[in-house]
Amino acid sequence: MVEAFTGEGKIWLNGTLVEWKDAKVHVLVHGLHYGSGVFEGIRCYATDKGAFIFRLKEHLDRMYRSAAAYQMEIPYTRDEMSDAIKATIRINKLDACYIRPIAFFGYHHLGLNPTGCPVDCAVAVWPWGAYLGEEAAEGGIRCTISPWRRIDPSTLPVTVKAVGHYLNSILASLDAKARGFGEAILLDTRGYVAEGPGENIFIVNGGIIYTPEAKSSILPGITRASVMELARDLGYTIVEKRITKEELCTADEAFFTGTAAEMAPIREIDGVLIGGGGKGAVTSALQKKFFAVLNAREQKYMKWLEPVYK
Ligand SMILES: Cc1ncc(COP(=O)(O)O)c(C=O)c1O
Repeated sequence: MVEAFTGEGKIWLNGTLVEWKDAKVHVLVHGLHYGSGVFEGIRCYATDKGAFIFRLKEHLDRMYRSAAAYQMEIPYTRDEMSDAIKATIRINKLDACYIRPIAFFGYHHLGLNPTGCPVDCAVAVWPWGAYLGEEAAEGGIRCTISPWRRIDPSTLPVTVKAVGHYLNSILASLDAKARGFGEAILLDTRGYVAEGPGENIFIVNGGIIYTPEAKSSILPGITRASVMELARDLGYTIVEKRITKEELCTADEAFFTGTAAEMAPIREIDGVLIGGGGKGAVTSALQKKFFAVLNAREQKYMKWLEPVYK
């Protein structure tokens, strides 16, 4: 069972830091009825050198891109949102935490056209450990191919992070959990491998790393881009291409990337063990490098870490 919020601390709501219990909106906000909101999931890490937010700029860039896809004007600049995020972490005296900025069409009228609704913004932060369980990073995750196909780019702008898009992820997660699996893997509408409900997917075959193309039915993750850069740095070849279910299930290694999931090996898909069910050599090497970066132990990648308490 996932732990409930403690209800302690402060949340940034429309420019003001308010008590957690007071961070409320009206039941008739547009975003609640139609999913017309955009958000980010970001992590802050506690390291020997202090608390750092991982790739804050890239996350905010994506949030503004997501808003633009829905003709939503966020009434704060990126710098103001960045300051709001740091202020929220500081006032809650946190170091390692998950950060959830959200912007949504607010209270004015209902009806599908949101024009005229204000855009409400909030930032909440809370301690959040391993999303796929403490064991996942080492032992790997038992996955299932979802009966739900990933939303198609011809139906929604799937490359942006909008609230309503997550109904597709929720259905896949509920189904996977009901059938006793740790996570789902969604295929796209043509039957190629897309991603997890909240993670990008990679496979390794013959030492080469493959991942679905950024313009396919995936959210092009910031962790995905980071791991790709680190892999190239380590001398691996990465190929973005369509991946079939067969290629996935017969891969030497497979792993997920994502802000919440971080980097976790896939050990099994519908009862088929991947690479014998252990963590493969390429996954291990990449994970080691990635965690070193997150822990501020890679000078070259300090550019990805934004200090919270300067
Ligand atoms: C559907 C989906 N795919 C992939 C990802 C991974 O993206 P990121 O690495 O930017 O967190 C996420 C998480 O935001 C997601 O929700």
